[in-house]
Amino acid sequence: MSEQLIGVVGAGTMGQGIAQVVAASGYTVRLYDVADEQLKRAQSNIAKGLDKLVAKERMSEAEKREALARLTTTAALEALSDCGIIIEAAPEQPALKEKLFRDLSHLSRDAILASNTSSLSLTRLAAVCERPERVVGMHFFNPVPVLKLVEVIRAEQTSDATVARIEELTKALGKTAVPIGDSPGFAVNRLLVPMINEAAFIVQEGTATPEAIDEAMKLGAAHPMGPLALADLIGLDVCLAIMEVLQEGFGDPKYRPCPLLKRMVDAGYLGRKSGRGFHIYDE
Ligand SMILES: NC(=O)c1ccc[n+]([C@@H]2O[C@H](COP(=O)([O-])OP(=O)(O)OC[C@H]3O[C@@H](n4cnc5c(N)ncnc54)[C@H](O)[C@@H]3O)[C@@H](O)[C@H]2O)c1
Repeated sequence: MSEQLIGVVGAGTMGQGIAQVVAASGYTVRLYDVADEQLKRAQSNIAKGLDKLVAKERMSEAEKREALARLTTTAALEALSDCGIIIEAAPEQPALKEKLFRDLSHLSRDAILASNTSSLSLTRLAAVCERPERVVGMHFFNPVPVLKLVEVIRAEQTSDATVARIEELTKALGKTAVPIGDSPGFAVNRLLVPMINEAAFIVQEGTATPEAIDEAMKLGAAHPMGPLALADLIGLDVCLAIMEVLQEGFGDPKYRPCPLLKRMVDAGYLGRKSGRGFHIYDE
């Protein structure tokens, strides 16, 4: 097992960003996905991501080539057996993640298993593993190459040594670790998504338009982006799912999802990715 060898599970939006940052920080990366075409897409997107850094003179052409040479992709989970740390960024489905964690903990007893889950209980994930003290949350933010925060989530079972190792890795990736307990929505989503939900209520009541709300929060609260433009970027389906996790997790009606948000998701108005959310996207 090598401490310098990092496994990344899932080559989607987050897995690609994580693999790019880890490879660019000098680690050797094995990126695993069940879909071959997704692995090909990931390799091409990561190369483009590194090209941007070269264009901004934050990396040389030679460093880019070295980073790409440290990254390999695989459709075989066994290829991760000698990774010291495995960061999981597979779809947000409890049964899928539990199976992956069970398999990974059999495959590599000594690896630290970190999940990038946005909302699932790390304590429950740790409970299916052979060495639950080595399971932890490592919650990156999208886009991973840009945003500096990693919420480090401690499950009930997580050991101090595991947290320390993940904090060290986070620093080596040029990011800042913020320690958070294993509670629904952790910290950022618990604060951010209810604000988005409240903005949807303001639109539903006809009190203000999405444009007015976004303008107000940019100018009045110095937010770089208004809450509804942000909701469109995150995906309205993702925002709704987070509200449902908060409502179920805390059993508190204050987290009820706004009916307008639900209707928009039902209509397929998911934000930027569908061309329409609270705002319209032409391209
Ligand atoms: N997108 C975000 O803004 C964001 C932010 C923070 C955290 N997250 C979390 O990151 C995780 C991944 O989200 P995403 O947006 O990158 O999803 P995504 O749908 O873009 O990517 C998921 C990838 O996992 C692959 N996959 C499916 N089943 C798999 C399996 N059994 N084993 C390995 N790979 C499998 C898919 O082929 C796909 O490439 C989720 O837990 C999500 O909650 C997402």
